[in-house]
Amino acid sequence: MARLAGRSAIVTGGARGIGAHYSRALAAAGARVMIADIADGTALAAQIEAACGAGTAASAVCDVSDEAQVMRLVAGTVERFGGIDILVNNAALYASLPPVKCTEIDVALWDRVMAVNVRGPFLMAKHVAPHMIARKAGKIVNIASGTAYKGLPDFLHYVTSKGAIVSFTRALSRDLGGHNICVNTLAPGLILSDTGLENTAHLDQSRSSVIASRAIKRDGYPADLLGALIFLASSDSDFVTGQTIAVDGGSVNT
Ligand SMILES: NC(=O)c1ccc[n+]([C@@H]2O[C@H](COP(=O)([O-])OP(=O)(O)OC[C@H]3O[C@@H](n4cnc5c(N)ncnc54)[C@H](O)[C@@H]3O)[C@@H](O)[C@H]2O)c1
Repeated sequence: MARLAGRSAIVTGGARGIGAHYSRALAAAGARVMIADIADGTALAAQIEAACGAGTAASAVCDVSDEAQVMRLVAGTVERFGGIDILVNNAALYASLPPVKCTEIDVALWDRVMAVNVRGPFLMAKHVAPHMIARKAGKIVNIASGTAYKGLPDFLHYVTSKGAIVSFTRALSRDLGGHNICVNTLAPGLILSDTGLENTAHLDQSRSSVIASRAIKRDGYPADLLGALIFLASSDSDFVTGQTIAVDGGSVNT
């Protein structure tokens, strides 16, 4: 039987970039997937349904920084799938961010990065957790970044937001552990995602130095993240919570 058969999942930022790979992988493992994104996920949902069967995917437009939209998303997912077993907090401002010196970050940009990258996962957890608590089970996977451990020049806003996610995971695991809900962080290293390849600021700046910093000296691809994602989403990790798994070829040791 597929490892996630009978489970339902929300993947925020699941329509594009690495999130689209997470959406496909969760469905391939047997889960029904709600693709939640500011980008349109209908084509991806149709692709997944063609590959995995009718009813395996749906999409909703949702800005995770907006509580009313998050509440609508969660209610709609529960109505459609009957519950939520897995939440992947993947949406973030990342590929679209140009490098900017720390002395020149506009306050409005700083606040927007925090709103999407930190408030977003909080709002999702706030509104999904009651459904998991009711069932005494659940998996929350928060996507951070190896940059939280080693920094990245000219991305102070982004790196700070991802550092917050590591602490958010640890704190939330303590709040929800009594309800049998696991909360973990997946921290990718630099990944050659399709959105990253469209906007090469991150690649140009770090690709060669990142590879040099790794124990396994090669580029990272979305496919490299999927084993850890499915592990954290499945019952194989039922006694693992509050942890960070870095998937980066051994660049940082968490
Ligand atoms: N690509 C990398 O090298 C890398 C490395 C480490 C961590 N990460 C993390 O992995 C995740 C995905 O990265 P990516 O490379 O696919 O980035 P990306 O910027 O291409 O994708 C982010 C996704 O989130 C969506 N999104 C943006 N704002 C949103 C909002 N307000 N509400 C809902 N959805 C929103 C986007 O439409 C997109 O689908 C991010 O959390 C990123 O920080 C990426």
